[in-house]
Amino acid sequence: MTSRIPSFDSVLSPLDYRDDHVALIDQTALPGRLEVLRIATVSEMVVAIQRLAVRGAPAIGIAAAYGMVLASRASCAPEHMAEAAEALRAARPTAVNLGWALDRMLGVFRAHEGRSQSELRAALLEEARRIHAEDIEGNKQIGRFGADLLPNGCSVLTICNTGALATGGYGTALGVVRAAWAQKKLTRVYACETRPLLQGARLNAWELLQEGIPFRVLVDSAAGALLAQGRVQAVLVGADRIARNGDTANKIGTYTLAVLAARHRVPFYVVAPASTVDLRAASGEAIPIEERGPEEVLAALGRQVAPQGAEAWNPAFDVTPAELIAGIVSEHGVLRPPYEETIPAACAPRA
Ligand code: MRU
Repeated sequence: MTSRIPSFDSVLSPLDYRDDHVALIDQTALPGRLEVLRIATVSEMVVAIQRLAVRGAPAIGIAAAYGMVLASRASCAPEHMAEAAEALRAARPTAVNLGWALDRMLGVFRAHEGRSQSELRAALLEEARRIHAEDIEGNKQIGRFGADLLPNGCSVLTICNTGALATGGYGTALGVVRAAWAQKKLTRVYACETRPLLQGARLNAWELLQEGIPFRVLVDSAAGALLAQGRVQAVLVGADRIARNGDTANKIGTYTLAVLAARHRVPFYVVAPASTVDLRAASGEAIPIEERGPEEVLAALGRQVAPQGAEAWNPAFDVTPAELIAGIVSEHGVLRPPYEETIPAACAPRA
């Protein structure tokens, strides 16, 4: 363990590359303890991603990029680097940012093949840092676009953690919250606790407290009552993968919020960088959904709550159909339907 809290360009970040390791906040310990792990190998990074010590789609993309730098410290042999990339890619299946970042790192590796190991390592570290810096810059832009959408004096509903901890820094949906708060447009955040692992109650609440932004945590099943009482003017959610037609995979329970928002005519916005768009996925049907272990559902905070022998279904994500999404707030602006046209126009790689 190390002690200094990771930051990047003076922004709180869940991770940072140090001389020979990645310093990474262990998000499973928050909010009780702020522990910074020392990750020195690819296999340690794979485990950190799998057990959600680092989580959130953009953050795990950045973690994977730094994981490739760690791999290159051991050897720059092409087979070794390919194996490292495959191990990282398989760590979690839904967030497309993981594969997106690895493809960028592999592109740089191939472009520098034949160079000395130290030149290769330097090029990989530079690319990983670029991915990290671009994410923070993009999030700040997203924050500005998103805040413009919100009416003065509004309250918003969120799910999961989409803040600094889930990204390179600043946050996506929580970045919009930060920007709206700075512009004095925001009255309160309602944060769904986000069972089973409570990223909303533990991590969103931790970030909001530090920012001094007023918030209330609610159990996920209170969202319907909240919307029915007209307490929020927008729902802001992140994304793990956005298909070409706008269908969006995000934390389990997001789809429920979208249906409720439609019922109560409250705009439902997906807030995510272009790195979360998968142009190869034609629709939500092509998005792989991670299923996690039953113990996350059958126990709460380490204590068994269901009787021994109970079984569980534990999808980590669900898919919200594009027709329920009022807009996708990206660093390229607010994308609107028809998404099959606006998403490729904004997010296709430029030649
Ligand atoms: O399982 P997690 O905690 O990695 O899930 C995270 C989410 O679903 C987030 O909403 C998403 O990754 C966007 S984070 C900016």
